Amino acid sequence: MTRNNKKFSANLFEMLISWQVITVILLIIIGGVVYFNLGDGTDNSIATANSTGAANPTYDKEIAPIMQNKCAGCHNPGGMRSNSPLDSYKGVMDYIVPGKPADSVLIQKVDGGSMGGFFSPDELDLIKKWVEQGAKEK
Ligand code: HEC
Repeated sequence: MTRNNKKFSANLFEMLISWQVITVILLIIIGGVVYFNLGDGTDNSIATANSTGAANPTYDKEIAPIMQNKCAGCHNPGGMRSNSPLDSYKGVMDYIVPGKPADSVLIQKVDGGSMGGFFSPDELDLIKKWVEQGAKEK
């Protein structure tokens, strides 16, 4: 009799413990899913706002960072293409006709020319839009 009672309470105890464990695990999983979903959403919107989604791109904000990243490695005063530095607004504007992407040597080079492939399609659209809108510095 005593033995049976002990066994019964021991089983009840184990059952309670396992439910608590399951509840805690579920909460961790749900919390994790919510946390990562929110995190992804925030990251994506930051990336779009800072790079290729800009409605009125300027050299200082959107163009300088991608030129620095993709072009200035060679096109800088000490680089392999030092005669055409693209690490400043002034340098870049030597190859841009504001408002006329088709007449701009830089656009001809990156859009199907010998500098094609350095820019992603989004970056190419952005830089064309920037030239069309007058290639503003600020
Ligand atoms: C790996 C080095 C390298 C990178 C990176 C590079 N270029 Fe060039 N670029 C060159 C060389 C070499 C030439 C000359 C040969 C030619 O015109 O194809 C050149 C030529 C040019 C010219 C014509 C002026 C000149 O110097 O003859 C422009 C404009 C230009 N590149 C723009 C760009 C842009 C914009 C990017 C970034 C998307 C870029 N380049 C990335 C090496 C590079």
